[in-house]
Amino acid sequence: MIPANIIEDIRYRCDIESVISSYLTLKRTGSNLKGLCPFHSEKTPSFVVYPETQSFYCFGCGAGGDVISFVMRTENLDYVSAIETLAKRAGIALPDFSDGNERRDGLSRSRTLAMNLEAAKFYRKCLFDDNIGAPGRQYLVDRGLTVPEIKHFGLGYSPERGGSMLKHLQSLGFKPKEIQEAYFAGRGEHGYYDYFRGRVMFPIIDVSGNVIAFGGRILGDAKPKYLNTSDTPAFKKSRNLFALNYAKNSTAGYFILCEGYMDVIALHKAGFTSAVATLGTAITSEQARLIKKYTDKVIISYDSDEAGQKAANRAIVLLEEAGIDAKVLKMSGAKDPDEYIQKFGAEKFKSLIEQSRGKFEFKLDEISSKYDIANPVEKIKAIGEICSFIAGIYSSVERDIYIEKTSRDFSIDPKSVKADVESKRRKLSRENDKKRQGELIRITSGISDRVNPDFAKQPKGARIEEDVLGMIFIYSEYVTRAVDGRVLEENDFVTSLGKRLFTYVKEKNSDGGFVFGMLNEEFTQDEISRVSQMIAERNELSVNDEGSFDTYVRALRQESDKINSGGDISLEELLQKKRSGMKK
Ligand code: GTP
Ligand code: MN
Repeated sequence: MIPANIIEDIRYRCDIESVISSYLTLKRTGSNLKGLCPFHSEKTPSFVVYPETQSFYCFGCGAGGDVISFVMRTENLDYVSAIETLAKRAGIALPDFSDGNERRDGLSRSRTLAMNLEAAKFYRKCLFDDNIGAPGRQYLVDRGLTVPEIKHFGLGYSPERGGSMLKHLQSLGFKPKEIQEAYFAGRGEHGYYDYFRGRVMFPIIDVSGNVIAFGGRILGDAKPKYLNTSDTPAFKKSRNLFALNYAKNSTAGYFILCEGYMDVIALHKAGFTSAVATLGTAITSEQARLIKKYTDKVIISYDSDEAGQKAANRAIVLLEEAGIDAKVLKMSGAKDPDEYIQKFGAEKFKSLIEQSRGKFEFKLDEISSKYDIANPVEKIKAIGEICSFIAGIYSSVERDIYIEKTSRDFSIDPKSVKADVESKRRKLSRENDKKRQGELIRITSGISDRVNPDFAKQPKGARIEEDVLGMIFIYSEYVTRAVDGRVLEENDFVTSLGKRLFTYVKEKNSDGGFVFGMLNEEFTQDEISRVSQMIAERNELSVNDEGSFDTYVRALRQESDKINSGGDISLEELLQKKRSGMKK
């Protein structure tokens, strides 16, 4: 009912950490946060927030979910009201759900494009208008732009007063409802109003030269800082990139992937014409595949703060998944590429590109910066963490390469590093087994499983199923991997909850993309909590690479084959057989 892009926007803009922090006190433990659970009474915290997967889970009462579920539970709201509450907080405009109208009917792609083109011309005219354009021009000049870049990128201005886009488009024959559908107007109690006001406008242009959307930046500090066109018949933000129309012609041999429009413009100005940016969201696998059409090398150049570096970590995985060689650029002394170039110039940035690092070096850097390597105790800790990271990698060739490098960097015998990595791998698989046994004991000892009643019938298969689902919910691109590769189908899942979850994700994914928040629409809060438990357990193990995923998928298929061929008898069946045997 509510489109995926809106839920995704909300999840991206309403960071779970900051939302939950406004309800309770959280303390950082490693990369997660802990607090006293708001859903049951406790004295020692067992409520964990996972910023990485934007989810929460309470090990005490089993409550879990995402930011939307959290608001539903704490504020006692239904799904749509929770979305509305969060959208308000983030300054995201929601389409009108109330009349039950499909937003899509009517407006065609070509009519939307025609409107966009007229709008781009009008915004530009406003920007260069002596009177009404002055604040916009001043802003851009203050940010170091000159007329050639402004024209090159077709920038414009949506004035605070005068120059109403709504009126302009109406005078060209577009109807208010169409104008609203194309995100140039909103609709409130007093009728239609201009969607963009007092903002510098960045048109988003596709590879064929169509203006498909706009991003608008407020001139001051008001919120939201950026307002963007949501999805329209001519635009899907998860499938497009800012400045791809120029970057596609670059001969650099690589793309530079940024977070912000201003970063891209600053880079192009400085001669790096292969810079692109996502449109205010984390990079998606569709965007990764889009990039792969033009280049197989990407330098990720995100903000230098913690959030930017985390996002870079995720982007590496996604880009590599699409077959792209991804490196991360490390910046210091500036918060983003725009600021860096203004401060230190293009030459310095060029050398940062040359020094950018791959996934392992990036991790090495992260770990080395935490410890003082000159101190033997700290050095041991650092190497321990590096070995844990290597232990989690599926490919043995890759592991060997990293073992080699670690031994060189820290002047340690490669045999010792290898031994450490191997012992960590053994420990990981032991922990895995132990968890599984614990689960089996819990199930078979008669505690009934209310949320997933089928679990006890096929405990082994169900456990593997939860591993597979846990990874799918951490990395939703794994669904595509499993579905496109035809390696998984509904029948491979052994419980009806598992089947329903898989089918739901698969269907949503094929019509526009699955996002976690959607589960709230279809599944009960108890079921969502169960999903969060699956995620939490996989998160604790931290071996969720593609190789591990494939291994679990194979194991699940083996189990389901056994079950479908009736080879393996479950506890329940065994009991039943015994009983019926006694009757005879
Ligand atoms: P400035 O330099 O401050 O203009 O911004 P930036 O280009 O450095 O962007 P920033 O790193 O703050 O954010 C990256 C991107 O996220 C922006 O280009 C926007 O596309 C998007 N973004 C930032 N803030 C918001 C917001 O409040 N709402 C929405 N919808 N998107 C935003
Ligand atoms: Mn910036």
